[in-house]
Amino acid sequence: MIRIQDVTFYYNEPDEASGHAGLRPALSKVSLDIQPGEFVALLGRNGSGKSSLSRLLNGIELPTEGTVTVDGRRTAEPHEVQEIRRAVQIVFQNPENQQVGLTVGEDIAFGLSNIGWPQQEIRSRIAWALQLVGLEADEERPVTRLSGGEKQKLALASVLALAPRYLILDEATSMLDPVARRRFVETLHEVRQRVPFTLIYITHHLEEVMGADRWVLFREGRIITSGPPSELQKDTQLLHDCGLELPYYYKLAELLRRSGIPTPATLSEQELRGLLCRSS
Ligand SMILES: Nc1ncnc2c1ncn2[C@@H]1O[C@H](COP(=O)(O)OP(=O)(O)OP(=O)(O)O)[C@@H](O)[C@H]1O
Ligand SMILES: [Mg+2]
Repeated sequence: MIRIQDVTFYYNEPDEASGHAGLRPALSKVSLDIQPGEFVALLGRNGSGKSSLSRLLNGIELPTEGTVTVDGRRTAEPHEVQEIRRAVQIVFQNPENQQVGLTVGEDIAFGLSNIGWPQQEIRSRIAWALQLVGLEADEERPVTRLSGGEKQKLALASVLALAPRYLILDEATSMLDPVARRRFVETLHEVRQRVPFTLIYITHHLEEVMGADRWVLFREGRIITSGPPSELQKDTQLLHDCGLELPYYYKLAELLRRSGIPTPATLSEQELRGLLCRSS
């Protein structure tokens, strides 16, 4: 599991005379445990500290105070960093920032070679990763010819090839149009059915995380609460304070309920559509 204990984090180096006096930390006194296999959503306004936390989880950044451990390994221990970076992979917003190969296949091969994957097994690993995300026919395609959604699926395949135990998606869908976004999220969950990993999902779109095990709400560098979506979604004031809005279908179901039309308490968009079709 990942254990974040009492973490405070400043980007700026402390001033010799005054330390960090007068500066606001990117994270303040953050504690959080993430269990193996969990699907956790990190939510909050711009600048609330979500990406900073994700960079602390794989040791790109180190806590100013407190500790981060991944399966018992402390990120602040230099000899643990290599193993931690392998266990915790991140897919970022802009796929172009993480694509290094000219072709789809080369892009996946690069990461595998880097971690010393046996050379004779690389081709079969590339094929395995591409079929997971539905790009099996695209191995020879130049990366520049892929659509935005395909590029993000390639980014996903490239990190999955490395067999991470923890996968962080930091606004991985934010550059995609709604259709590509939905397809990407569907692919992600299909993959999770086949290959188990812990999913840490950062987004401003609640519809992508209605099925999460837990929401963690950030405000100004602090975790203000966490809990199952079914509980937190009832507190509209809290969501509003964190800059979050429930999906339209959820609000529509609420309106139906209030107008006396029997509507189950938890309902997916698909189920609501079915309900409306049956009642029209
Ligand atoms: N590289 C950096 N150097 C200095 N300060 C930074 C850096 N990156 C982020 N910050 C600051 O740290 C704080 C937390 O930012 P962070 O990027 O973690 O927020 P976020 O929740 O991911 O926001 P967003 O939703 O916009 O991605 C903000 O005050 C931000 O300005
Ligand atoms: Mg961010």
